Amino acid sequence: MARFTTFLWAVSCALSARTAAADVTLPATVEVDIVFPRNETYAPTPVLPLVFAIQNLAAASSIGPLEITWLIMKLGSDQPIAGNQTVDKTDSTDPHYVNLWTGDLDGAESAGTYQLYWMVYYLACSGQKDNAGLSSGSRGNNFTFTLDPGAQQPDLSADLDACPAQSATIVIEEAWPVNVEPPRDACGVVSRSRSQPSANPCAVKLDSAAASSIAAEVTASACAASPPALTRGCPDPTETKDSSGSRVPVWSGLGMFTGPVLAGLLLLVLQ
Ligand SMILES: *[C@@H]1O[C@H](CO)[C@@H](O)[C@H](O)[C@H]1NC(C)=O
Ligand SMILES: *[C@@H]1O[C@H](CO)[C@@H](O)[C@H](O)[C@H]1NC(C)=O
Ligand SMILES: *[C@@H]1O[C@H](CO)[C@@H](O)[C@H](O)[C@H]1NC(C)=O
Repeated sequence: MARFTTFLWAVSCALSARTAAADVTLPATVEVDIVFPRNETYAPTPVLPLVFAIQNLAAASSIGPLEITWLIMKLGSDQPIAGNQTVDKTDSTDPHYVNLWTGDLDGAESAGTYQLYWMVYYLACSGQKDNAGLSSGSRGNNFTFTLDPGAQQPDLSADLDACPAQSATIVIEEAWPVNVEPPRDACGVVSRSRSQPSANPCAVKLDSAAASSIAAEVTASACAASPPALTRGCPDPTETKDSSGSRVPVWSGLGMFTGPVLAGLLLLVLQ
């Protein structure tokens, strides 16, 4: 782990992470919850949604971009399925849902119990205020879920009263206007206190409108994949709206973040 941490730190220092100035009152708490799947049993499925919610994403502008990484491993296997998503916007509605999926858990041969590891990475200040650097930190957890051909298909709209399985909180204590390149104007100091504020996962329970809209987004994404993970129930391409137009990306240039991050998660899991 030590070697990996050093490597990440070096990578982090080389980054010119960017963030927009945001009017955020500090200290502030950012919370990441895994909304779906839960610690439940589902049927194997062509498309398993992986839905994360970020509460108070706007407060993460000094530690972003956040990188969400997930890894699913069947118990007794050493073949992980993994993915990642950079959250490169802060001007989102709150909570901000990150709607991912995997197409690798289909068919009766997928039956079994799985461990789902998830992690959110951030770039925070390190060192002293008069000589600060940037270093990567993370929060995450893991839980099990089961695939059984006799169970119901995963359905975001089922059991809307259930709260997310797990959460992580990140407390940003203050922002230092140091050692960062424009347009990022500060780095955030993340609390290292062992007593983290308690999470509020039930605040991001989906209502039926949110569940349908996320399901539609996941379906459209699975249909658009190459090769497509879904060919039935796909939206008519002429009806697909371009929703990217009005959003302003405030974080960018973090492509190199991903490789080391996923390698780190793998190391953690496989050791
Ligand atoms: C997985 O979860 C267990 C129990 O919560 C925890 O002890 C362990 O540290 C976790 N492992 C990782 C890699 O997060
Ligand atoms: C998940 O559910 C199983 C069965 O109900 C239980 O044994 C396990 O402790 C639960 N929690 C986690 C975090 O996996
Ligand atoms: C991270 O995700 C992107 C797609 O979102 C994928 O192309 C890339 O291979 C992933 N990186 C790793 C290391 O898995």
